[in-house]
Amino acid sequence: MSTPTNSSRTGTAVPASPSLVQTLLRPRNLAIAVIALFALVQVVSFPIIAVAGWQTNPNPVAEPAWNSPETRALAVRACYDCHSNETIWPWYSKIAPVSWLVTRHVIEGRQRLNFSEWGVRGVEVNDVIRAVRTGKMPTKNFLLVHPEGRLTDAEKQQLIDGLSASLR
Ligand code: HEC
Repeated sequence: MSTPTNSSRTGTAVPASPSLVQTLLRPRNLAIAVIALFALVQVVSFPIIAVAGWQTNPNPVAEPAWNSPETRALAVRACYDCHSNETIWPWYSKIAPVSWLVTRHVIEGRQRLNFSEWGVRGVEVNDVIRAVRTGKMPTKNFLLVHPEGRLTDAEKQQLIDGLSASLR
């Protein structure tokens, strides 16, 4: 590491030992710092989410009177992870910072529309149908990790027809 010097004989300055910042910025130390920070965030975040009960599935209260099992199956595929009490919480939903995003989507999603608490809060049926027709729902980031939530045009139409027949 240190370059040889003849400081004693020539009087040239001895190279300064690396500063604290230089030491910290060494790739190995940076990697250790990032891993330690990541671990610390998990240690703090995990119990908070657990204690707050943000990633739980409360007992279903009531479902819409589905016109067919197919309509329900389409809604389960495309909507239930955020709009029901039957959310599937995959392993990565437990890991910060992904856990924060997923938890927020589910809390907000359930507030707007919850197929497991049908009739508890007023929901505009037209809004639900519009969300599917315009492609606003399911959300783009959901489809990135849930290809099974992607509906073909035919399935989309089937869901729209099924929702119109089931929701009131
Ligand atoms: C990844 C989670 C997620 C999925 C999957 C999802 N939603 Fe949503 N949805 C949200 C969130 C978050 C909100 C509230 C924020 C907003 O409006 O963008 C919302 C809002 C809504 C609203 C109210 C606001 C509006 O645009 O009218 C409706 C209706 C809705 N979703 C319907 C659906 C339907 C129907 C499906 C399935 C085809 C679906 N959503 C799938 C997360 C989701």
